[in-house]
This record gives sequence, structure tokens and C-alpha cells, in this order.
Amino acid sequence: MCGIVGYIGPKPAAPLMVEGLSKLEYRGYDSAGIAILEDHQIEIIKRKGRLAELVSALEAQDLTGKVGIGHTRWATHGKPSHENAHPHYDCSKSFAVVHNGIIENYQEIKKKLIAEGHKFISETDTEVLAHLVEKHYKGDLLQTVHHVIGLIDGAYAMAVIAKDEPERIVCVRKDSPLVVGLGEGENFLASDIPAILKHTRKVFLLEDGEVATITKDVVEVYQKGEKIDKELFKVTWDAEAAEKGGYPHFMLKEIFEQPRALRATFKGRLNNGAVTLDEMRDIKGLDKINKVYFVACGTAYHAGLVGKDVVENLARIPAEADIASEFRYRDPIIDDKTLVVVISQSGETADTLAAMREAQNKGAQVLAVTNVVGSSVSREADLVIYTWAGPEIAVASTKAYLTQLAAMYLFGLFLAQERGILTPKQTSEITKALRELPGHVETVLEQAGKVERLAHEWAKRENAFFIGRGLDWAVAQEGSLKLKEISYIHAEAYAAGELKHGTLALITEGIPVVALATQGRIYDKTISNIKEVKARGAHVTGLVFEGVDISETVDEVIAIPNTIPLLAPILSVVPLQLLAYYAAIARDSDVDKPRNLAKSVTVE
Ligand code: G6P
Repeated sequence: MCGIVGYIGPKPAAPLMVEGLSKLEYRGYDSAGIAILEDHQIEIIKRKGRLAELVSALEAQDLTGKVGIGHTRWATHGKPSHENAHPHYDCSKSFAVVHNGIIENYQEIKKKLIAEGHKFISETDTEVLAHLVEKHYKGDLLQTVHHVIGLIDGAYAMAVIAKDEPERIVCVRKDSPLVVGLGEGENFLASDIPAILKHTRKVFLLEDGEVATITKDVVEVYQKGEKIDKELFKVTWDAEAAEKGGYPHFMLKEIFEQPRALRATFKGRLNNGAVTLDEMRDIKGLDKINKVYFVACGTAYHAGLVGKDVVENLARIPAEADIASEFRYRDPIIDDKTLVVVISQSGETADTLAAMREAQNKGAQVLAVTNVVGSSVSREADLVIYTWAGPEIAVASTKAYLTQLAAMYLFGLFLAQERGILTPKQTSEITKALRELPGHVETVLEQAGKVERLAHEWAKRENAFFIGRGLDWAVAQEGSLKLKEISYIHAEAYAAGELKHGTLALITEGIPVVALATQGRIYDKTISNIKEVKARGAHVTGLVFEGVDISETVDEVIAIPNTIPLLAPILSVVPLQLLAYYAAIARDSDVDKPRNLAKSVTVE
């Protein structure tokens, strides 16, 4: 996600901005920029693309100013572009603003400001902040920021400089991290500690609603307009660990970010017992859609498998899930009544893109479910649902998958709601259950220690099985892929009822099996299949809802909080991600960068 840096002190700020931003690159970004204040003038230099682009642009400049703010942007409102990159000016170039987060009421504010004569250059929500500061400024930047935060809703970490107040930077945070670093005769600002760790280990961790003014010698922090005493936080960890937020690997960090990521996916989309998906408002012939195809690669394909069941179950529309590299070459039967849903974390996967174009050529409408604003898939699709997982760094996808599942439920429920398949009461029950999921994921994560112990046993084996029926089978496929990708243990995912038609021959003494049994309707059938593998000596871990007593049938039990069985995949996949992670650690694999694999596969 976006990154913020700031500096005020005796040194030229520009190189320090670039250095700080380079430490935030791991957060993911698509443009970068800085604002430098000197001689009562603010100079903004920004570029689309990598930080190197900004560095070359700066080479042609002679910026010696000693006050600066900088930003790396990960597009949300508006595509990645020079105009949309931060910092943003107001009309008179008297102020510059950088911001992380989303200003939810920016559209109404922007409309008003335009009516009052303000000129906007970008498509961003952030630019309204610069114009609001301009409008309300009466000679005191601190007071202005206090006033402006009363006018905006949403999440923000923001820093502002004013050409007429060259001695200070003012910043504020709400639901988006921001820290102030304390130096000797100089002070720093950043959205994340690694950006300033080279210069200081003494920081103030700003809390929600806190506003800080930073001069080169003094930092003052205010809450609700009152000055407060802030406790100093001493950083003890090294820079690399800090980039991973203290986690040893990005994958583990991303697994633990899942509750937050899910909340972001649901944000603003579950209202009053119904689904609000503004992104779908331009869908054509909603009543006439008679087939939905989910098309994707890898983990995203596994999200499509869940999507298929969700759409059939909730909206009663026939649905299929297909691997993009197969779909594109098999001359699928498609027409203008077909809705093709392409799922892609990166939005750049070559096969997924090609499958999407094939579908469009055949007359289908395409909905993209993606995590990356401005990606090729998002630009070419007819409709886009963003998953808002934030940048995913580890090659093995975790939080992106969970948010893709969340998008599947939102989409399936939306179709059912709009086509009048579910009663308002049914819809409201499902939305209530969806809202509970982030908290339930937190509960599942509490079992990490137990899963880790189990993983140590799995790590000694070369083969493993994941079995289940229905949605459990879809999740089994993702669990199996995770294990293969990062631990290099060979794993098979099997529809539990199909085992006896061949694969049972591979079940030998001690072979590890995860049996998922969350689907009540077919629970007894799955239990019979578990007994088949137990009888052949398998070591079985049963994955069930809390309160289901399966202990006599299996060797180990992992329980997930109760929810509607249709929603179980969001919970049941989490222990499988942890299992893969800890098994890979025990086998000393390069977890974040597994051999032979790439995060974004842009070749066929
Ligand atoms: C690669 C990644 C997988 C991912 C797949 C699809 O193989 O290693 O983790 O699931 O591509 O990527 P996409 O960006 O389209 O979701």
C-alpha cells in the first residue's frame, strides 16, 4: 500500500525522501513523488512507475530545501498516472499533501469545492484534502488540519506542508499507520518504521485522531485539539524484520493480515442486511444471464471453484470454473447471455488476460475480480470488483485468495438479491454471517501453534493428501497447492467420494491426510471416506466446525468457528495455509520465493 515519508532539519530533504521511500518499496506502489519547501515555494516532483523514474527526474533539479514530504502510491481512486501520483497541490500551490487511505466522502466534498471554483487535476480522493486546507487556511496550518479532519470520513494518514510556514510539517492519522521519528536537530515522519530506521530508533507511534506538528527541534502531538504527552517508543528490531512488520516472512505476515484484508473487502459493501456493489451498476441484461464462467489460474482458479458453488447455490444460475489456459483454447460456448468472471490477484496473468479477450470476442460480458487498480485485467474488463487485500508480496497467495473468496460471496449474493432469488431475510442472515468472518479468522489464527506442531510431523513426509466433498474439495485443492508450492511435499487433493476409484491405492501406513468435513449435508458421507483412509493406516487430521465431535474417527482435530457451511472456505483454508507455511519452514524452504515460481506470470 502507499507509503509516506517526511523530513525537517539541516540537511537537503530530497535525498532523504528518496532513501525513505526506497525502504517502503516492499509495500507495493505504482508511482512516487516528493514535495520540497524552500524560499516560501513548494516544488513537487513526481513520476508514474518505479522510484528510479523519480530519481532520474530529480537529477535534473537542484532542490536544496530542507523540508519535504514524499509518497509512494498504490492506486485506489484513479489509475496509476503522473496526475494521480502524490503529493498534490491546492489551486495556488501554497500547500502540498500526501495521504494514505481512503476519504470516503470525497465525491461530495469535491463537487462542492468545484462549485466554489477549485480546480482539480487528479482523479484521487486525496486532492480534496489540499483544496480543503486551502479553503480553510487562516494562517495556522495546525488549526486548519484540525478543522479539515472534522470534515472528512474514512481512513487516512496525511502530511501537509504550507509555503508560508516553512518551519513545520503537520500530520494526522486515523486507521492508517504513521510514526514520527525523533532525531537531533532534525525530525522524521513515515508510514512505517523502516523508512526512518537508519536515522533514529526513537519514535512516536501516532494513534487514531492524533495530530502532530513537527519542527526540526520539537514534535508536539494533539488529541481533540489538546496537547498530549506521548510515550517514546524505542525500536529494537532490525530494518529487514520491520519491513515484514516483525514477522519472519511476508507469507506469515500476509496470513495474519487476513482479518484486516477481509474487513477491507467487505467495507461499504454490506449495508442494512443487503449487498451494495456499485461496481455492478453497469451490468447489462442482469435478468438474462444464463451462465457464469469463472476463469483464472493457480490460487485464483481455486477461488473460482468456490465462486461456482456460491453462484449456483445462491443465485441458481448454472456456473463453471475453468483454468484460463484451458478455457482460452477450448472454444467455450459463450454468448451475450454469458457472464465471464476472471479472477486475478495481479490482473496481469497472461493466460487470464487472453481468456478474457477470447470471452469478449465471443460476446460475453466480463467481470474482473482483481487486487490491483489499473492492472490490464481491470482496464479491459467491462466490470471490476476490487478485492482490496493490499499488496501481496509472498509468491504463495494467501490474503489475496481469502479476499477473492469474499468477493465471490458478495457477487453471488448480489446476483441472488437482484434477481429476487433470496428473501430479504435470507440475504440479511448471510450478510450478518459474512460480517462475522474477519473475527472468526482471528480465532482460527490463534491455533497457529497447534498447526505448527502438526506441520513438523508433515515435514518428514514426501506425500500427503487433502480430501473433502463439495466446497471442502475446493478448499482441499488450495491447501494441497499451498503445501506443494512452498514445502515441495507432493500433495494430492481428492474429492473424498472418488478416492476409492484409484487413489486409495496410495494410502499407506502413516501417510498424512487432512480431511475437511464442514459441509453438513454430506458430513456422514465424508466420515465414511475418512474411515476408508484410516483403515489403510493414514494419519488423519479432521477439519470441522467447533462442537462437532470427530475425535474418535481421526488422529487430530482442527476446529473452526461456526458459520453457514457455504461460508466455511474462508475459515477452513487458514489452517491449511499455516500448515504449508510451517512445513516449509521445517524443511528450510525459501518460503516467500519458492523455487521455479513467480508471483505474476506474464507469459503463456
Ligand atoms: C502465479 C502465482 C500464484 C497465482 C497465479 C495467478 O502462479 O504464483 O500464486 O495464484 O499466478 O495469479 P493472479 O495474479 O492472476 O491471481
